[in-house]
Amino acid sequence: MSRDLILAPSILSADFARLADEIAEVEPAVQWLHVDVMDGHYVPNVTIGPVVVEHLRKATSLPFDTHLMITDPRTYAPQFVAAGSESVTFHPEVDDDPLDLIDRLHEMGARVGVSIKPAQPLSMVEELLPHVDLLLVMTVEPGFGGQSFMPEVLPKVREAAAWREANGASFRLEVDGGISVDTVGQAVAAGADTFVAGSAVFGAPDRVAAAEGILSAARAARPDG
Ligand code: DX5
Ligand code: ZN
Repeated sequence: MSRDLILAPSILSADFARLADEIAEVEPAVQWLHVDVMDGHYVPNVTIGPVVVEHLRKATSLPFDTHLMITDPRTYAPQFVAAGSESVTFHPEVDDDPLDLIDRLHEMGARVGVSIKPAQPLSMVEELLPHVDLLLVMTVEPGFGGQSFMPEVLPKVREAAAWREANGASFRLEVDGGISVDTVGQAVAAGADTFVAGSAVFGAPDRVAAAEGILSAARAARPDG
């Protein structure tokens, strides 16, 4: 099955003093915006809270793909949805009943994703996969932008794509970390259809050209053209 390809630049690599302008610059060239939320506990970095999403919601019509790298998604995921995130993704090992949290967020009208870190196997989230809209496979260790893509994660992306096919599931398969014009093709060939790119977009002098370059490299690598 051929899905639309989605590029979601991570605002973690944008200039936080001029976020609205930075977003306006990429808006014509991308499909979603990736919002990396870190709490200083799940990862050793602190980024943004729901209040920022609430304000950015007025500045763009791009859907927010919010990635919660936090230990308490049960408290905060609903706050991000209420603030205007169309999609929220959490790391399920931190919650006692991730299926219940997925249901609650769906009831609020959000798309819901779960994420696995490079060392976590697909089997860790297999029970959740029939219930989610997105599986985010980390291709770096969560915590910081600008790290190198980990090709050793690609077999897990292939495994997830095969699982989706075999089980008639429809979640989007997103890769996050070190995605650029040089690495996106490998992710697409493995079955990914949704790409986060922080430094490769916001770190480029021409963000639109960078985004277009990543999307065209992704299209060129599609097994079905
Ligand atoms: C890492 C974040 C990523 C990161 C991507 O913890 O989840 O979304 O910002 O940044 P790049 O594309 O620079 O690796
Ligand atoms: Zn992310």
